[in-house]
Amino acid sequence: FAARNASSLLRTAVKPIATPSPAPLRNFSSSRTNMGKILAVLYDGGKAASEEPRLLGTTENVLGLRDWAKENGHELIVTSDKEGEGSEFQKHVKDAEVLITTPFHPGYATKKILDSAKNLKLAVTAGVGSDHIDLNAANEHKITVAEVSGSNVVSVAEHVMMTILILVRNYNVGHEQAVGGKWQVSDIARDAYDLEGKVVGTIGAGRIGYRVLERMVAFNPKELLYYDYTALPDEAAKKVGARRVEDLNDFLGQCDVVTVNCPLHEGTRDLINKDNVGKMKKNSWLVNTARGAICNSEAVAEAVNSGHILGYGGDVWEVQPSPASHPWRKMLGPHGRGNAMVPHYSGTTLDAQKRYADGTIEIIKNYYAGKPQNPANLIVENGEYATKAYGQRKKGVAS
Ligand code: NAI
Repeated sequence: FAARNASSLLRTAVKPIATPSPAPLRNFSSSRTNMGKILAVLYDGGKAASEEPRLLGTTENVLGLRDWAKENGHELIVTSDKEGEGSEFQKHVKDAEVLITTPFHPGYATKKILDSAKNLKLAVTAGVGSDHIDLNAANEHKITVAEVSGSNVVSVAEHVMMTILILVRNYNVGHEQAVGGKWQVSDIARDAYDLEGKVVGTIGAGRIGYRVLERMVAFNPKELLYYDYTALPDEAAKKVGARRVEDLNDFLGQCDVVTVNCPLHEGTRDLINKDNVGKMKKNSWLVNTARGAICNSEAVAEAVNSGHILGYGGDVWEVQPSPASHPWRKMLGPHGRGNAMVPHYSGTTLDAQKRYADGTIEIIKNYYAGKPQNPANLIVENGEYATKAYGQRKKGVAS
């Protein structure tokens, strides 16, 4: 009950983050057509998608959008081919009116690509996190960028909890013994701890970060901390007993477990880097399910390999799909511990796919009907940032 109440409290109390006064969606009356070209860049589902229709975020099942697009006379192009000038993405974006992308297989909409997209009015992120779109360029071209805010925040918060437990309890080493026919308890236990009594801190205390704090309460931590330029409302902070730390190095030096839950923008790229990873407590853990590029790949791998931190885990990578040579695939601490990486899937559970598929369709229907969007879904609109979550912006510079 407490957790649920605190979530609603956060929704009502904190969520001014993304709630400017409701404004109508850009007036496209001069340029919006009732029928248009919609380009969707999604991941291929293959055999799994033909067997499991709830895999809605795939090119095969295309968010459940196909019938609606057909009935309404829209041209719908669906592809997973997203890299390079000859790709279907770069070819079709040139005259698409609506672009759908997903963080799980991001169509990277760089400035150059957006410069070429002469008809583009709306870019929808099927999910949460629109850093794969050059938001400054979208502003320049007055392209609205919207995401399905909140659609997978519980899915990610649960994944964070799982990853923290996998690392703290040294699960992987035990699992490898179990399936490998081995039994040497001391080799597992030498790097296994209880979560109870640890100091746990989140970088970013928005929808996901706050839900992690809520879930963490049940584990009886020594203290819960957060680092965010937006303070939680007093009541929300009190509910979970979280203390704000305003200096990043100070924050890193106090946490046994750091979980990263802020968006990727100019102010958070390389936020954890070779200069400050050493400020993390010796024998601490780092979990990042936000975006790979927030943590410097080499610096993190070195901290794990050298044994300075006991482990790193998450599901997000700087470039996706990640190359086989990425250092996070092979990094391993002493005694084989400390790697809890998986491909990007925490926010694309079957439950989440239903929510972000429905949300994507709603955003597109609103657009074609000329209806206002839910302000919480808007990232940039009318040439300006509609949310405060993508950096504190002073003269265009984010921090
Ligand atoms: P949110 O907008 O509710 O909260 C983000 C918080 O980060 C805000 O409180 C904001 O003030 C804070 N923040 C921004 N810049 C910061 C900085 N420089 N330092 C400290 N805090 C900062 O966003 P939500 O829904 O919690 O999602 C956060 C991120 O998680 C998304 O932007 C996305 O990148 C990632 N995500 C990952 C998923 C996955 O499948 N792995 C799925 C969904 C989201």
